[in-house]
Amino acid sequence: MEIFLDTGMVDEIREAAKWGVIDGVTTNPSLIAKTGRTQEDVIKEICDIVDGPISAEVIATDTEGMIKEGAELAKIHKNVVIKLPLTEDGIAACKWFSDNGIKTNVTLCFSVNQAFLAAKNGATYISPFIGRLDDIGHSGMDLIEEIRTVYDNYGFTTKILAASIRHSSHVREALLVGADVGTMPINVVKGLFKHPLTANGLEQFLADHAKANS
Ligand code: G3P
Repeated sequence: MEIFLDTGMVDEIREAAKWGVIDGVTTNPSLIAKTGRTQEDVIKEICDIVDGPISAEVIATDTEGMIKEGAELAKIHKNVVIKLPLTEDGIAACKWFSDNGIKTNVTLCFSVNQAFLAAKNGATYISPFIGRLDDIGHSGMDLIEEIRTVYDNYGFTTKILAASIRHSSHVREALLVGADVGTMPINVVKGLFKHPLTANGLEQFLADHAKANS
């Protein structure tokens, strides 16, 4: 499973990029708003840090506007992926981008039927929001599993990008059900490294080494 960092904060991206485990970055209008910068500036800088897919979301809600905006975003860098909402207009725009060889990430997916429509129109990525489904008492991971089954049954090549990941257990479960990508905040990536037995074991090794060499 590829790991994407879900943030617009370039300092976080620089920090995580050093670990060598980050394959790409996703942003959304809320994350860009937190930076206080323009989307174009943020995306340009991210593209200089990470050599992988970088999702930038359109604000327009009509197909024509999405195409215009997305085509401009795609000019920023070859790695830019156009993020489109899962609406009738967004799915229509997805078809246009697919037909024109531009990668897409269809976002705000909450059902297998929505994921089916995105795949039909050639989406590069589908983003089911796990955490937000869990928040309302549904199972985000069941949705990932259902989409995996449908995409495998019909041979769809759209990649399942598990989004709205909130903690390490989401990552573990996404790995087990076969998500292609997980996008997560930096605190979740940091959590993947951690295990108390690793920390305790290392402390003991270093203490024993120091004792033997004192
Ligand atoms: O990639 C989508 C993600 O940013 C949404 O996460 O935590 O706002 O539900 P969250």
